[in-house]
Amino acid sequence: MMRILVLHGPNLNMLGVREQETYGDQTLQSINARLMELAEAEGVTLEAKHSNSEGELVSWIQEARARFDAIVINPAAYTHTSVALRDAILGVTLPTVEVHLSNIHQREEFRQRSYLAGVAIGQISGFGALSYELGVRAVIDHVRRAGDKQSG
Ligand code: DQA
Repeated sequence: MMRILVLHGPNLNMLGVREQETYGDQTLQSINARLMELAEAEGVTLEAKHSNSEGELVSWIQEARARFDAIVINPAAYTHTSVALRDAILGVTLPTVEVHLSNIHQREEFRQRSYLAGVAIGQISGFGALSYELGVRAVIDHVRRAGDKQSG
């Protein structure tokens, strides 16, 4: 069965409280609950984890190599700063989709650059909580297609 790791970066545990006009009113728990439903409907397993710490996220990406087939990540503020997360994704060679609740390209200039975009299979930005759902769907589709190519 396909295994997907969803990673939430710093301050995303504050969803529902923080800047609702930008990030919406859903909590991280409700986003994760929706992703679990989606995973069940698609017949895949999904684990969601949050950390405020860059090093912990790097370690989880490294560990994912043996345990998961793909990653969906909202790196939050580390999107715009973290060579370490970029290198971790490059290192594990797992297909990774970058997601953002807000449209980072419409926001401050410093948010418009992503260190991860160049190593992700794609980026989904601006659809609120739906960005995560689209990200999970996209990565499932990607892994299935890759599997079809290998077997066919
Ligand atoms: C975010 C966008 C980032 O710029 C910001 O630092 C976040 C959330 C988003 O989901 O829109 O914390 O990744």
